[in-house]
Amino acid sequence: MSRTQALRLPALNDDEVLRIRNDFPILSRSVGGRPLVYLDSGATSQNPVSVIDAEREFYEQRNAAVHRGAHQLAVEATESFEDSRETLAAFVGAAAVEIIWTANATEGLNLLSYSFLNASLPGAPSEAARFALGAGDEIVVTEMEHHANLIPWQQLAARTGAVLRFIPVDDAGHLDMAAAAGIINPATRLLAFSHASNVLGTINPVKDLVALARAAGALTVLDACQSAPHLPLDVKNLDVDFAVLSGHKMLGPTGIGVLYGRAELLDALPPFLTGGSMITTVSMERASFLPSPQRFEAGTQKISQAIALAAAANYLTETGLERIHAWESLLGQRLVEGLTGIPGVRVLGPAPGVERIGLASFDVEGVHAHDVGQFLDSRGIAVRVGHHCAQPLHRRLGVTATTRASTYLYNTTSEVDFLLAAVSEVRAYFGA
Ligand code: ALA
Repeated sequence: MSRTQALRLPALNDDEVLRIRNDFPILSRSVGGRPLVYLDSGATSQNPVSVIDAEREFYEQRNAAVHRGAHQLAVEATESFEDSRETLAAFVGAAAVEIIWTANATEGLNLLSYSFLNASLPGAPSEAARFALGAGDEIVVTEMEHHANLIPWQQLAARTGAVLRFIPVDDAGHLDMAAAAGIINPATRLLAFSHASNVLGTINPVKDLVALARAAGALTVLDACQSAPHLPLDVKNLDVDFAVLSGHKMLGPTGIGVLYGRAELLDALPPFLTGGSMITTVSMERASFLPSPQRFEAGTQKISQAIALAAAANYLTETGLERIHAWESLLGQRLVEGLTGIPGVRVLGPAPGVERIGLASFDVEGVHAHDVGQFLDSRGIAVRVGHHCAQPLHRRLGVTATTRASTYLYNTTSEVDFLLAAVSEVRAYFGA
């Protein structure tokens, strides 16, 4: 089923979600004798049978190294691998040559950081000059980034002499766009920001940020980890230069992610990892490199994972990202409204009624997040606790750790209600 056909399906509801759940074997298991209530998809999502089957079928029928053999298995493996690239390209609205397989989103961001560093070193090729950074240049990120979209830029700034600046977050969990307009200036070379916050649930104004970057002549990097799994993503329409996503957060296996880059940029960007499969000619002294995507795919690739990720993308497309987004918005609002009504519970991020993705991080007065998590686990509820790889954001909001419930297309309204009922018992249980 195509994206257009999925659009014609009725909105998701609890009955339809119960049918969807049948595709996810793990959701019918129990935890400590209680039914599993999985509300940790922001950390990692569960896999439908079609994804598990795609990976197994590859190993049972077509396992071979890609782009290297003339035999039948190698041809079939290469075809499946490249078809999967086409699928992911269509999923984000890009061309296949603009899709690079990475281990995860973190590796995609590090790939960019190291490639920009390579462009900044003495002797870098002239076509890489547009990526070179040095003293006087600025890299801008936001205060709501998870560490994966912060530390690689800290490292790049430290190694090149560029300055790292950040767009602040206001008390309501939104970027301060007035401040952004002052911070992004002609010295800005790169703006890296998340589409949706993994802590706050805030959906950022991508086009406004891209417009500020374009006006300053800066390149843009979109972290789509928390958006690509949950809402329709079109990188061309958003007009970003680069974007990353993580396979295991969008029903795919671990060990696979995607880096999108505009083709003309990727072909000029120096490679990060070097070795076999990314070269044209090699002498004992030097090598020349293929264009994208092979330029960035050294060594034997993540073949079964890429094929399984394509199965995940197909599952999402057939279900319909618009429908998934609408359902999760409803769950997110139910979460934030319910949590806000529980005495002693503080929810981070946008207020009830304001747009957010289907997650909520909260603090329970007088009870450490780890205790909250263990209490919920004793009821079969899986959530994430801690700083969610976003220490600076937690510090900004005056907390060290929070509990996060994050939904996906397979969660029901009763699961959200079950969580809310359990959270309302936490303070009494711990005598807080
Ligand atoms: N993957 C991290 C999360 O759980 C950042 O949000």
